[in-house]
Amino acid sequence: MKNIVTFDGAAPPGTINFGIGQPSADLLPAELIGRASASFFANAEPFEFNYGVTEGDGRFLDSLAGFLTTGYGAAAATKELFVTGGNSQALDMVSAVYAKPGDTVFVEEPSYFLAFQIFRDHGLKLVGIPVDDDGLDVDELRRELKSHSPAFLYTIPSYHNPGGQCTSAERRRQIVELAVEHDFLIVADEVYQLLYYCDPPPPAYGTMTSSERVVSLGSFSKILAPGMRLGWIQTCESLRDKLIAHGFINSGGSINHFSSHIVRQTIDNGSLVTHVEKLKREYRDRVEAMDNALKESFSGIAKWKRPEGGYFFWLSFDETVDTAPLRDKAREFETGFQSGAVFSSKGQLNNCLRLSFAHYNSDDIRAGIKRMRPLF
Ligand SMILES: Cc1ncc(COP(=O)(O)O)c(C=O)c1O
Repeated sequence: MKNIVTFDGAAPPGTINFGIGQPSADLLPAELIGRASASFFANAEPFEFNYGVTEGDGRFLDSLAGFLTTGYGAAAATKELFVTGGNSQALDMVSAVYAKPGDTVFVEEPSYFLAFQIFRDHGLKLVGIPVDDDGLDVDELRRELKSHSPAFLYTIPSYHNPGGQCTSAERRRQIVELAVEHDFLIVADEVYQLLYYCDPPPPAYGTMTSSERVVSLGSFSKILAPGMRLGWIQTCESLRDKLIAHGFINSGGSINHFSSHIVRQTIDNGSLVTHVEKLKREYRDRVEAMDNALKESFSGIAKWKRPEGGYFFWLSFDETVDTAPLRDKAREFETGFQSGAVFSSKGQLNNCLRLSFAHYNSDDIRAGIKRMRPLF
């Protein structure tokens, strides 16, 4: 295939950069999207190209509800769904709709680094809550609730970015209880919920909307293609009404009406489910390749847990190691990673780094990990 570079942060030819958290070209289903588009255009009415209903096209939301009912194993209701332009856009919108400048939001420590800027753009103050192997530390959350009243808690409950772990079902239940007791929202970024390579993760927050404190964000970026710029919010009707009343939605209608037509076809013809199964098979192999390659080169030097889903390995080194300058040096070795401090709202975790296994096949993963070894 011709190597056309069309995204920001693409690695120079020959470099194996595990900092890139995007699918490899062979996992972007161009043909599947082509077939879905053809089947949509074969019957499209002119009105399909109008603004679209504010919360999203009803036929799409019905199909999505069916997809989530199967995927999450619990009934999803159309009236609780709202179309977004993916989770990044959804994070921007929840910051505008459910918080006001000067409010505090709790984030996990570490967390998805690009969310920090979205929150800060809205004048929100970040307070980091640590995570461990079982996810968000609920005791720490309780402690911080004594001195802060957050507008919301931003959490990545399944196959964390960057940590790779899942918050246990019991902790999710306790977090919902605390949200009700202290009146804050849980903004759950469930972008990796359906990408599991062993047992399914604990139930999604999307299945807990009856608490009226949960705003679950989902996206087609990791299960279909980031370029579709399509996702959804699943929340109770009263919280959904606030999104619908937002000025941007009021003016522009459905956020991505056109993509929702195409993605609806992939749900209705079953090709999305088949594609997700293919992704899971391929990523499972890549996890194994990376884990084995790390065992060969990094045993005794770094600690990590093999992830059971998602995109990432999170490595911790001795406290004396600073991965930030090593990231620059990695370019000389034609490899790369994301250094730990960017994932910290407090500028800590310098001795950690994140590796993505999504952008390279197993052979490249083995070669790239070998190239990284001399850096440490
Ligand atoms: C935790 C998390 N949230 C959001 C995103 C971006 O999602 P989207 O492509 O739907 O905007 C990513 C992508 O890496 C992510 O890892």
